[in-house]
Amino acid sequence: MRVLGIETSCDETGVAVFDSDRGLLAHCLHSQVAMHAEYGGVVPELASRDHIKKALPLIRRVLQEAACPVETIDGVAYTAGPGLLGALLVGGCVARSLAFAWGVPAVGVHHMEAHLLAPMLEPERPVFPFVALLVSGGHTQLVLVEGIGAYRILGESLDDAAGEAFDKVAKMLGLGYPGGPQLAALAADGVPGRIDFPRPMTNRPGLDFSFSGLKTAAANALRGLQQAGGVIAPQCKADIAHGFQQAVIDTLLIKCRRALQSTGLTQLVLAGGVSANRELRERLRDEAQARGWRVFYPRAEFCTDNGAMVAFAGCQRLLAGQHDDLAVRAQARWPIDTLEPVA
Ligand code: KG4
Ligand code: ZN
Repeated sequence: MRVLGIETSCDETGVAVFDSDRGLLAHCLHSQVAMHAEYGGVVPELASRDHIKKALPLIRRVLQEAACPVETIDGVAYTAGPGLLGALLVGGCVARSLAFAWGVPAVGVHHMEAHLLAPMLEPERPVFPFVALLVSGGHTQLVLVEGIGAYRILGESLDDAAGEAFDKVAKMLGLGYPGGPQLAALAADGVPGRIDFPRPMTNRPGLDFSFSGLKTAAANALRGLQQAGGVIAPQCKADIAHGFQQAVIDTLLIKCRRALQSTGLTQLVLAGGVSANRELRERLRDEAQARGWRVFYPRAEFCTDNGAMVAFAGCQRLLAGQHDDLAVRAQARWPIDTLEPVA
């Protein structure tokens, strides 16, 4: 089965063609980062308008690169949520219309399920059941994955998502949008141990997270290091970035360890934008080696939003005979544990 996948849930237009026999045939992405940068964050209306401009040219390009005549496409998958409603509607309308015109089924995909399954695009794939740590701009969740669509949330953030905390602290440090990758780069220049942050919610049992207190800790550290005139030395900023990143990574690691211990499982999937963080990937790899776990993550370009994960996730559901009716589905909020399992 050959599936065109379309991702438009936030600030990236991603398109890909996945073939269940031959794997990923082509993928391309347009990032809106430069457009939103001057506002310091995503402007939803601008995001929707840009998806409208970019979707069809990208689809044409990806079909050409995949050398796929449209007659060979067996289904169209699109991100139906969670995400920005206007942005979701653009991808949904384009996908639903193309599927109707081509006489093939369309399926609305859950964005976090697509992230969760992205490691399956790699040669080394996890086998069900496993634990997934989903860390993106909007979500931080530990999920017990028993099969496609069979998800139990073991723990999640009670306030800010990990990516959101990265972005907010980056903003405080005067870094551009999106802050996560820039904060990670700055952290590399920080001196370990100079600034210490708490590891929230690790001194009590449970698998939930809370990252909003780290913002306050970062603001306090910044205030404490301010020189006359409010100036902060670049090295101090790097030290704060380092301390903050270490606190987030330690916290995530402690909860992953607990989740694997409590489920008795040894496979861990790491996915979502923050899984692109090199330090997090390396720390998890070391921990896995020491404890006999196996860790799976997508290649860096498929950690953040992309069309390949949507094409793959949609293909699994279409292969199982699931598809939508003629309506366009768009759900800004959509809990992952309400999805229909794939038999
Ligand atoms: O999955 P994603 O592309 O979009 C959502 O579904 O939210 O995740 C974006 C988030 C942003 O908060 C971004 O700052 C963060 O992932 N991110 C990172 C890194 N790369 C992206 N955070 C930390 N380190 C990175 N290298
Ligand atoms: Zn995402």
